Amino acid sequence: MKKLGILVSGRGSNMMALVDACERGDLSASIELVISNNKDSFALVSAQEKNIKTAHIGSSIYPDPVALDTAMTDALIEQDIDLVLLAGFMKKIGPKMLSTYRGRIINIHPSLLPKFGGKGMFGMNVHRAVIAAGEKQSGVTIHLVDGEYDEGAILAQETVAITPDDTSELLAAKVLKVEHVLFAETIQKIIDGSIILPSA
Ligand code: GRF
Repeated sequence: MKKLGILVSGRGSNMMALVDACERGDLSASIELVISNNKDSFALVSAQEKNIKTAHIGSSIYPDPVALDTAMTDALIEQDIDLVLLAGFMKKIGPKMLSTYRGRIINIHPSLLPKFGGKGMFGMNVHRAVIAAGEKQSGVTIHLVDGEYDEGAILAQETVAITPDDTSELLAAKVLKVEHVLFAETIQKIIDGSIILPSA
């Protein structure tokens, strides 16, 4: 059974979709730790309700970025985590975590990368930019994490059609629905070997 660590910053609906997939048996993994950099993250409450171990590790506790990176990495190592999943995690991953978990850190992004990724492209900013650009489709990308925002190797993508009456809010809802399925499916493919990670 692969041990998953999930990093979150906010609402945590993708985290909960992973929890549900584990409970249904669609994802043969166990979620051993949820870390939030934000103590007010709703995801922490949801994880605790599911009796999942949680930790608040953020810059308010560790103002030094090196200490923060070390604390997060050590917490993952302590739980013997195999894969680190970023489910709405808003901070850059530090060098220690990147080297410890090289090729085993996976992010979900609500657009068809490389389009609409990079600094500042998170949450509704992404969907507003997609609508403003007059795109005919958007989607979801699951990708490996490297030192830059939204730039690692793409593991899976699914498109979402945009209709002329779509607002950024309607698009966000459509994309989120796909996110909730694709993340767990992709992680299961990694676990069963149909997607092979570079480090494996
Ligand atoms: C999702 O759209 C995800 O793709 C992005 O941040 C959002 C997090 O939403 N990285 P939630 O916290 O999982 O509800």
